[in-house]
Amino acid sequence: MNTKVSQPSPTTNLLEVKDLRVYYETPGGDILAVDSIDFELKEGETLGLVGESGCGKSTAAMGILQLVQPPGRIVSGEVRLQGKDLLTLSEGKMRQLRWSKLALIPQGAMNSLNPTMRIYRQIQDVILTHQTTGSDKLSADQIKNRILELLRMVGLPERIYQMYPHELSGGMKQRVCIAMAIALNPSLIIADESTSALDVVVQRVVAQTILRVKQMLGVSMIIIGHDMGLMAQIVDRIAVMYAGKIVEIAAVRDIFNNPSHPYTQLLIESIPSLKEQKPLKVTEGLTHDPRHPPPGCIFQLRCPIVTDQCRSIAPKAHLIRVEQSVACHAYENTDVARTV
Ligand SMILES: Nc1ncnc2c1ncn2[C@@H]1O[C@H](COP(=O)(O)OP(=O)(O)OP(=O)(O)O)[C@@H](O)[C@H]1O
Ligand SMILES: [Mg+2]
Repeated sequence: MNTKVSQPSPTTNLLEVKDLRVYYETPGGDILAVDSIDFELKEGETLGLVGESGCGKSTAAMGILQLVQPPGRIVSGEVRLQGKDLLTLSEGKMRQLRWSKLALIPQGAMNSLNPTMRIYRQIQDVILTHQTTGSDKLSADQIKNRILELLRMVGLPERIYQMYPHELSGGMKQRVCIAMAIALNPSLIIADESTSALDVVVQRVVAQTILRVKQMLGVSMIIIGHDMGLMAQIVDRIAVMYAGKIVEIAAVRDIFNNPSHPYTQLLIESIPSLKEQKPLKVTEGLTHDPRHPPPGCIFQLRCPIVTDQCRSIAPKAHLIRVEQSVACHAYENTDVARTV
């Protein structure tokens, strides 16, 4: 089945994900949580990964970082960071790269801060576990100054240093997680639902913090989330996932102005608007059993423009604009790649 959506190869890709498949073994068969995704991330770029619950966003993040736990397994693929395929590295080598090159702010991270440890100790642990011996080693004072600097960078007051997680609000805890993620100046940060489970005002504050960190450090980011409006403010491009596949990937403005995959269109139409009191559009139809995807297009059961072709042949990715790729048969004759 080929529904890969990929971008034209930019000159400075930090990350290249090719044909990544991550399945979970269950008694009823494998759940194809991530089923052949392809995308690239440029140096300094921020990519939003959106899609409904269960479409495979967190599993994709875990796959990239080689953190998939049984019953999950990486079935195939390449995850190239600065050209090096991470999937061929030993666990020891990967452990060195996590935090220092690639940092993950996992889903629900703020609730997994150690309740018995003061904030500074949790940040300090990240710094210490990756500190090399010899001349690179930081003194206790340097570590303290670095932690205070990190807290300032995420907009937290210095008094947080001595506090315990239970003394902080959700938004503050989330910003501590961002401080931990940037502690070692990684090249890539993956933030999984960092703004979910927070009230709207705090969501905005955390989003602003992410934006600030991105501008200060020039770090590349993958931001996983549901809120398209919030995404629009902090990412450069958006990849839309459905049932383990990326069905559309494009610049934010194209996703909003010209949503092209029928699923992206439904996502955009479902954003409530105060200006126009339109009835909320719901994505009707049943989803398929993730262990037994239908032949053809994975979106066929819910697609408003489904045809017989969609029920038998998986759509290829069509590059409909310079940086907009859509896996849908409706764009078969509009592939700009064929005209150049
Ligand atoms: N440990 C597991 N065992 C079996 N199936 C799993 C496991 N973890 C995830 N899955 C399945 O893999 C699919 C993708 O899950 P994943 O958590 O990656 O989705 P998600 O897009 O991150 O969802 P959410 O938005 O709710 O966080 C789902 O069908 C889910 O039920
Ligand atoms: Mg998730």
